[in-house]
Amino acid sequence: MDWGMKNRMAQLIQSDGRCLFLPIDHGYFQGPTRKLEKPGETIEPLLTYCDALFVTRGVLRAALDPADIKPIILRVSGGTSVIGKDLSNEGLTTSMEEAIRLNANAVGISIFVGSDYERESLLNLSKLVNEGERYGIPVMAVTAVGKELEKRDSRYLALSSRIAAELGARLVKTYWCEDFEKVVDGCPVPVVMAGGPKVESELEVFEFVHDGLQRGAIGVNLGRNIWQHEYPVAMIRALRAVIHENVSPEEANDLFNTITKG
Ligand code: 5RP
Repeated sequence: MDWGMKNRMAQLIQSDGRCLFLPIDHGYFQGPTRKLEKPGETIEPLLTYCDALFVTRGVLRAALDPADIKPIILRVSGGTSVIGKDLSNEGLTTSMEEAIRLNANAVGISIFVGSDYERESLLNLSKLVNEGERYGIPVMAVTAVGKELEKRDSRYLALSSRIAAELGARLVKTYWCEDFEKVVDGCPVPVVMAGGPKVESELEVFEFVHDGLQRGAIGVNLGRNIWQHEYPVAMIRALRAVIHENVSPEEANDLFNTITKG
């Protein structure tokens, strides 16, 4: 790995080998997602506690302060919407030159294994990796499941994650699932977990994140269960403790309760 690539990766993955990425890219296909209508305001109190942001160039330029920001993973795939025909028909939206201009630490792209557009999304990933490697910019592959959330089992996610790594992704973002070690063990590059739709209890989030870390994930790229929560700062601080301080889910829950009461 060249110095530039190493340096960018080191800013994303902290010295303890773990990471907490905060994604706010949902608008690229969902429009003004609940609680993300004004992304700059939503993330302002959370910024201190995340290690990087996952964001599109549009929101980056329009809503984020270049003088007060964390490392950026730039979402560079898109071209579809929740009301369109097929979410998996994504293309590359942003050039590597633009990623360099924006001083991105990494770029992120979704792949849709098993969909009608599997081939296109995988070749888009490969093209992005070719360009990223030329300039020392790591690529994070997002194993997307479209609207079919039932695809979140270890067999499917292990297949998608391994293919992403084979094509050159330096990081893979996938979903937590039962037997998560099957996903991580079959993937030769670091794996981070997405959060998925907001769940009912905080403890549920701390439990799956803790479990995923025990089974080999290096951290999270987790959005809605933080910024759609009534107490987003308490959520991100408790999650940070799970990830960077190795606290148990129960200890994280106690911390969450203490912060919300204070
Ligand atoms: C959506 C994404 C998100 O970055 C990813 O799903 C993580 O966010 P959440 O925790 O809200 O699921 O790729 O475009």
